[in-house]
Amino acid sequence: MTSPVRIAVTGAAGSIDYSLLFRIAAGEMFGPDTPVILQLLEITPAMDALEGVAMEIDDCAFPLLEDIVLTDEATKGFDGANLAILVGGMPRQSGMERADLIRANGPIFEGQGKALNEVAADDVRICVVANPCNTNALITMHNAPDIPNERFTAMTRLDENRAKSQLAAKAGVPVRSVSNMGIWGNHSNTMYPDFFNARIDGEPVPQVIDDHDWLKEEFISTVQGRGSAIIEARGSSSAASAANAAIDHARDWFKETPEGDWHAMAVASTGEYGVSEGLIFSFPVRCDGEGNYEVVEGIELNDFAREKIATTEKQLIEEREVVQDLLT
Ligand code: NAD
Ligand code: LMR
Repeated sequence: MTSPVRIAVTGAAGSIDYSLLFRIAAGEMFGPDTPVILQLLEITPAMDALEGVAMEIDDCAFPLLEDIVLTDEATKGFDGANLAILVGGMPRQSGMERADLIRANGPIFEGQGKALNEVAADDVRICVVANPCNTNALITMHNAPDIPNERFTAMTRLDENRAKSQLAAKAGVPVRSVSNMGIWGNHSNTMYPDFFNARIDGEPVPQVIDDHDWLKEEFISTVQGRGSAIIEARGSSSAASAANAAIDHARDWFKETPEGDWHAMAVASTGEYGVSEGLIFSFPVRCDGEGNYEVVEGIELNDFAREKIATTEKQLIEEREVVQDLLT
């Protein structure tokens, strides 16, 4: 057994966390040899509900769970945290875009950034799930100046998983056949799922799927609009699949990415592929097994891809302008 990992999770009485917390405690994020301590943050009115969730976690008798902290104070929730998964915030409803949440959810990340800066562990890593997740991660990063920028990420793994599943269904192969599925830009209706560089059993997707009109139109719009489609069908936003993506995101951040493959993570741009520096932008990344990532270099982008990437970058620049007052 290694020493326990302290994992802070916000929005802990909410829908996503009802799927997420049990899987973390079962060892799905850090494996069967790593004990975990859950530090669960909620707003005061949700503390009774959080007590109920904690009773259920207790009743699972998870062997890897060393301790569980319940709090409505950010500095207690993030104290000594090695990983913070920021899920707490309003979800959108039918007819809304994720960016419509920006002024409701953005201020949460000003306070949480400051608290992380003050009390988190020196090696803390942050994954923002709450929408609009790229810009919320940007706000968090700006309010935590002592934490290196490369520790802040936003979750686009759900988009990677959705894209893989769509491609696998179209090609009539299992999902495990699909690799190198990059998502570029914003977790929004402008994201660019890069099918040109994705592979099916090692072959470029456009060589395996010959319906290129479908790839350029229906595939992209299905991935971009999947969140809305789920809200229309279910009456509430994705929860179990979002929790699953959060497990994938954190697990793969601490695992060596298999040779030649990559994953989607929204990270602080340092100007890669000409993307405006400082934006939290989804790129194809590779992880080294030590909790570090690098943006994959040298990916070929044709005019079609460059135009899509410019559109999603422009949207993120506009979101950044809307929250200027929250960026210190
Ligand atoms: P939910 O309403 O079921 O739960 C959110 C929880 O957050 C609530 O319990 C609420 O009390 C809590 N909360 C609110 N403000 C808080 C604060 N300041 N500190 C701590 N907790 C706080 O919503 P949900 O379905 O769990 O979704 C949560 C967020 O995740 C939403 O913003 C949603 O849009 C987003 N989301 C993102 C992705 C993604 O792929 N990035 C996927 C699905 C959902
Ligand atoms: C999703 O992609 O399912 C989430 O971001 C929730 C939403 O609002 O679409």
